[in-house]
Amino acid sequence: MKISLVIAALAVCKTAIAATPAQWRSRSIYQVLTDRFARTDGSTTATCNTGDRKYCGGSYQGIINHLDYIQGMGFTAIWISPVTYNLPQNTAYGYAYHGYWQQDLYKLNSNFGTAADLKNLAAALHSRGMYLMVDIVVNHNGWDGSSSSVNYGSFNPFNSASYYHQYCTIDYNNQTSIEDCWLGDSNVELPDLKTESTAVASGYQTWIKKLVSDYSIDGLRIDTAKHVHNTFWSGFSSAAGVFMTGEVYDGNPSNTCSYQAYMDSVLNYPM
Ligand SMILES: *[C@@H]1O[C@H](CO)[C@@H](O)[C@H](O)[C@H]1NC(C)=O
Repeated sequence: MKISLVIAALAVCKTAIAATPAQWRSRSIYQVLTDRFARTDGSTTATCNTGDRKYCGGSYQGIINHLDYIQGMGFTAIWISPVTYNLPQNTAYGYAYHGYWQQDLYKLNSNFGTAADLKNLAAALHSRGMYLMVDIVVNHNGWDGSSSSVNYGSFNPFNSASYYHQYCTIDYNNQTSIEDCWLGDSNVELPDLKTESTAVASGYQTWIKKLVSDYSIDGLRIDTAKHVHNTFWSGFSSAAGVFMTGEVYDGNPSNTCSYQAYMDSVLNYPM
């Protein structure tokens, strides 16, 4: 019994800070949309019209260069936009500079830097006693086009239609529809994963364990949490092993707060 407790404690120490809900509670978190915060070379001369929806050149190294600024405002953690590979096309809604149109869980979005750059960001934060929160998407992938044009083979690891719900549009008065139907529209569809299936849940668990460990992540912000089946969270949370806060985009406190049964925290949309 004692030995297993020591081993458990060592395992926690090994995976970076791997901060718990209690450790996160007193933190002030600064949100950074990586592409729009700071370029690696610090240049501001090349303008980027945000309305063009192009990549503006923000990077992990750019964030590292501005940690004095963020810490100086009193923040003790940052939350960065999703890091995974996104659809590369210029869609009817522009490029995926925000990171929410994921296609490959195991590749990084190279617009923001290399794997070494992301590891350096985690290390730079930790050396200041700050935490790294990474935004993740586990509900859907992104596709440049309509539902009938989706090439499932281009996604990794969920590379066949069998991992996805059949296309339907969301009825926001029906929770089953919110969980099973697709976000997006015919310009950019967001093919909806069967988060209630064991194959999908275990695929995401394998991935998140590796992501948290590879990049020494201290916490996760979960995109579109109310579109994911509730049965998904317990196994996912164990695999991640770090604090999670969920986006339950709903103004009704009883709808939003009910998700605290499934994850450590939710963003306060009702307020
Ligand atoms: C709710 O949505 C599901 C999924 O689309 C659908 O099968 C079901 O019929 C809907 N229920 C109602 C009451 O509309």
